[in-house]
Amino acid sequence: MSGDQAPTLPFPAGWTREHLLDLESLTAEEITILLDTAQLFKDATDGCRKKLTLLSGKTCANLFFENSTRTRNSFSLAAKRLGADTVEFASSGSSVAKGETFVDTAKTIEAMGVDWVVNRHATPGTPHLLARELKCSVINAGDGPHEHPTQGLLDILTIRQRRPDLSKLTVALVGDIAHSRTARSNLWGLRKLGARVIVCGPSTLVSPRWEELGFEVAHHLDDILHRCDVLNLLRVQFERQVTRPFPSIHEYAALYAMTRKRMECSKSDILIMAPGPINRGVEIAPDVADGPQSVILEQVTNGIAVRMATLWLLAGAMARKQGEAI
Ligand code: CP
Repeated sequence: MSGDQAPTLPFPAGWTREHLLDLESLTAEEITILLDTAQLFKDATDGCRKKLTLLSGKTCANLFFENSTRTRNSFSLAAKRLGADTVEFASSGSSVAKGETFVDTAKTIEAMGVDWVVNRHATPGTPHLLARELKCSVINAGDGPHEHPTQGLLDILTIRQRRPDLSKLTVALVGDIAHSRTARSNLWGLRKLGARVIVCGPSTLVSPRWEELGFEVAHHLDDILHRCDVLNLLRVQFERQVTRPFPSIHEYAALYAMTRKRMECSKSDILIMAPGPINRGVEIAPDVADGPQSVILEQVTNGIAVRMATLWLLAGAMARKQGEAI
């Protein structure tokens, strides 16, 4: 399954979904199928570098109403690596400025003949709305603070490559849990696969409700550091905050930034992750971000593999629904 040939790849019997909207509603089996398929694509394409022709003739539309570097470009590359075409829509410079609605915009792009709409929007639930309104597959690329399922999957894939038995791991999500769609997708995905998950941050950014849902809540990184196998350091999302949840960035960094000193108090093989974009000196010190325990750039590469798997699995489910060969 490499080079330019179209390989025959058995379609997983357990996959039936035509949309990927969240990880909360997926089963452990479905998450495992996505991860296994992503690993297969990564291995077969020399680390997501080679091109296949599995999805030639199909088109992926990126419908982004919020900024993105990683998600948008890796969906484009994933589609191209599988032989599909791409349409790039950004709300700035579009006819949204002339009053066209979100749904009319999406239907207009779909009418150009697309097979997947990849949607990012500041409002939670917008991809779910599109899944009802459109005929093609819809993928949530981040809906406000709700979920970012492919980010959760690429984070879990990166952990699984280094530590295959997730049931033995303690993973801490540190920082702005309140505004983080990445946190939510990680929480659901990791728990379904058996990991212990801690949410850690200031009480203004970590709801006690997480404890009611069975997750461990911590407010002091130094109290939990020695128990963690993985730290996923979340960006403080100032753009989503109505009031400032802590007195200053300096005070936040003093309590929650992963620094060289904190690395010395951690397990020697701790994995340092960040979904990005990272703010050096706020949630992570530059020497930790660039250090030997950091897998931040591996996460980016794995993003292409996860998105290849997502496009292929959704296309297969859609083909099956329409009575076509997968
Ligand atoms: N992690 C993430 O979603 O990054 P982008 O905003 O750059 O897509």
